[in-house]
Amino acid sequence: MSPKRQVILRSPATSANLGPGYDVFGLALEFPVDKVTLTLEENGEIGIKVSGVKSESISRIPERNTAGVVAKYMIREFSLKAGLSIQIEKGVWPSKGLGSSAASAAAVAYGLNEMFSLNLDNRQLVRCAAKGEVASAGIEHADNVSAAICGNFVILKSYDPLEIVNLKAPLDMEVSVSFPHMVTPPHKTAQARSVVPRMIPIEKMVRNVGNAAAMVSGFASGNVDLIGQSMLDAVVEPARASLIPGYQKVKENALKAGACGVTISGAGPAMLAVVNKKKADSAKVADAMKLGFKSAGFEATAFSTKPGKGVCLMEN
Ligand code: HSE
Repeated sequence: MSPKRQVILRSPATSANLGPGYDVFGLALEFPVDKVTLTLEENGEIGIKVSGVKSESISRIPERNTAGVVAKYMIREFSLKAGLSIQIEKGVWPSKGLGSSAASAAAVAYGLNEMFSLNLDNRQLVRCAAKGEVASAGIEHADNVSAAICGNFVILKSYDPLEIVNLKAPLDMEVSVSFPHMVTPPHKTAQARSVVPRMIPIEKMVRNVGNAAAMVSGFASGNVDLIGQSMLDAVVEPARASLIPGYQKVKENALKAGACGVTISGAGPAMLAVVNKKKADSAKVADAMKLGFKSAGFEATAFSTKPGKGVCLMEN
């Protein structure tokens, strides 16, 4: 079968960790999204164009761009006779902890699968897309790309072999997100990973396992309050909190405005709150979080959204 000449994809922002699930939990968001257009090229080369939010900060060199890394890997791995133009319209702010690199990587994995009818399942797509995370984080952590591929809530049960559990989020669940307008270092995620403790006391492990288990039960039973109340991390978050200006105030403000729980989104600096829409207004929670950053001297962006689906083809 001859390959499709062009596909256009919509790939979501994601939030990793959700508190106790470092490198294990991921959540796809309905907003924002990247729009990615893949077009076959005769010349056999990979070309990358990037536009949209903060696109000037993103490398166009295939080896340094997550989408380019995934394309090169899949072309080699599946012996695709292809050159590819990758056009990325960023909706997901880069370097904020919202899975920007994963959104583009997932789009390329999903898109090449469609173009060449490779019949890869979600697990294989995640394996391909995770190759791109090396370009930004230095390792193949797969929490963001799993959520970007599968949608909703994912649990990385195991990395080797790769095993993913995918659960729907409750309909009453909304999320509020805010991030400060601060300059982050070029290898922000690698830096945020370097402060994570390598050894932890058994008491902290017990607390994290308890909260992680309760959170999964919250997703399985549709209990938004339990999901939010379980968003507590005794291990990674305390080590990263000092990297985020206004961290404590953002948390306090979100809880006061009615959020059920607040945590750092991925490696930050964005913070994410879970809101039960029957009990509180997620737009107000987002505004309260923004004021928290402001009290630390930083302007911030804030929005509310809800859990969303994974990467998909867009109508032309
Ligand atoms: N789990 C990863 C981390 C997500 O926290 O470092 C990075 O976006």
